[in-house]
Amino acid sequence: MINMTSTTFSQNNTNNVIERIGNTPLIELKSFSTSKLKVFAKLEWYNPFGSVKDRAAYWMIKNAEKKNILKKNKSIIIEPTSGNTGIALTGIATQLGYQVEIVIPEKVSTETKDILKKLGATLHETSDDLCPRVGAGTDQSIALAYAISKPRPDTYYMPNQYENDSNYLSHYESTGPEIWEQTSGKVTHFFTGCGTGGTITGTGTFLKEKNNDVKVIAIQAQKNHLLQGLRNFEESAKPELFIRRESVVDGWYTATNEKSFEMVKILAEKENMLVGPSSGSVMDSMIHYMQDNDEGVFVGIFADDGRKFQSLFNQQNIFSDVEYKEHLKNSKFLPPLAYT
Ligand SMILES: Cc1ncc(COP(=O)(O)O)c(C=O)c1O
Repeated sequence: MINMTSTTFSQNNTNNVIERIGNTPLIELKSFSTSKLKVFAKLEWYNPFGSVKDRAAYWMIKNAEKKNILKKNKSIIIEPTSGNTGIALTGIATQLGYQVEIVIPEKVSTETKDILKKLGATLHETSDDLCPRVGAGTDQSIALAYAISKPRPDTYYMPNQYENDSNYLSHYESTGPEIWEQTSGKVTHFFTGCGTGGTITGTGTFLKEKNNDVKVIAIQAQKNHLLQGLRNFEESAKPELFIRRESVVDGWYTATNEKSFEMVKILAEKENMLVGPSSGSVMDSMIHYMQDNDEGVFVGIFADDGRKFQSLFNQQNIFSDVEYKEHLKNSKFLPPLAYT
C-alpha cells in the first residue's frame, strides 16, 4: 500500500525533474488510525519542487506546449500566485527554457519569496491578502498579471490556474489514479484543502468514477487566515475551475488557524512529520470526520512541508527556532529540496 519515491534530485537533468513529478508516498498515520479506520497522508512535498502544485504547473506548461503557445527561450510565463504554484512553475519552466514572472502578495512568507528568486523568477509584489480574491476588480495580483501580459501576447503566457482545465486534469490523471492504486481501491473518504479547486475536483472526480460511494471532503480556511494555499470562499469567490465541477464535493469543513497550527505541532510530535499549515488543516478535518465514522480508509492531501514556514511558526508561537530545528532534525519524511 505504501509507495515511497526515491528522494535524490538533480536539477541539471530536465527529464529527471519531469519524471519525478507525481507518485508521491502515501503514509499511514499510525497514531491516528484505529483497528477499523485507517488514516493516510499523501505527502505531496515529495514532488521535486516541494508541493502538490508541481502537478498542475507541469500539466499547464505541457498542454501550452502542445498547443504551440510557448516558444523556447522567448516566452515569459507570468502567474499570480501566493507561493507554491509560483515555485513549481518557475522550477519546471526554467528547466524547459522559459522565463518566469510571479505576481505575489507581499504577505507571503520570506522563505517562499527567497525560493522563487533563487529559482530565477522575477517577482512583482502587491499588497493583497494572502489568498488572491477572484472576481473583477477585487484582486491586485490577478489584475496586475493581466495588465502586464495582455498587451504582449506574443511574449507573455499566463497559465491562469484559476480557469485552466489542465490544473483539474493533472489531478484527474495523476493524483486520483495514484490514490486508487495505493489504497488498492479501498479509499472511502478523500480530504483536501482548496485553493483553485484543481486538487479536489480532479482527484474527487476520478475517485468517484471508480467508486461513487467515495466521500469527497473540501477544506476551506477561516476568514482572515494564515493558511498559505487555502482560501475562504466567503472572502473570495470560488474560482471558475472549481465551479465547473463543484458537485463532486460531499462535505465542507472550515479550518481555523488555531486548530491547524495545533495539528502541525501534534504531527511533528507524534508522527515525526514537519508539515506546512494546510496539512494541519487537513489533519484537523480528518479527526473531525472520525467522530462520525468508525471504519474506512481516509486519505488526506498534505500539500507541502514545514520548511518554508520557520518564520511563521515562530511568529505564531508554534515552534521556537530551537524546537523547529529539533523537529527538522527528527523528521523522517523530508527529502532533499530541489532548490538548496
Ligand atoms: C499549500 C497548498 N497549496 C495548494 C493546495 C490545493 O490547491 P488547489 O485547490 O489549487 O488544487 C492546497 C490544498 O490543501 C494547499 O494546502
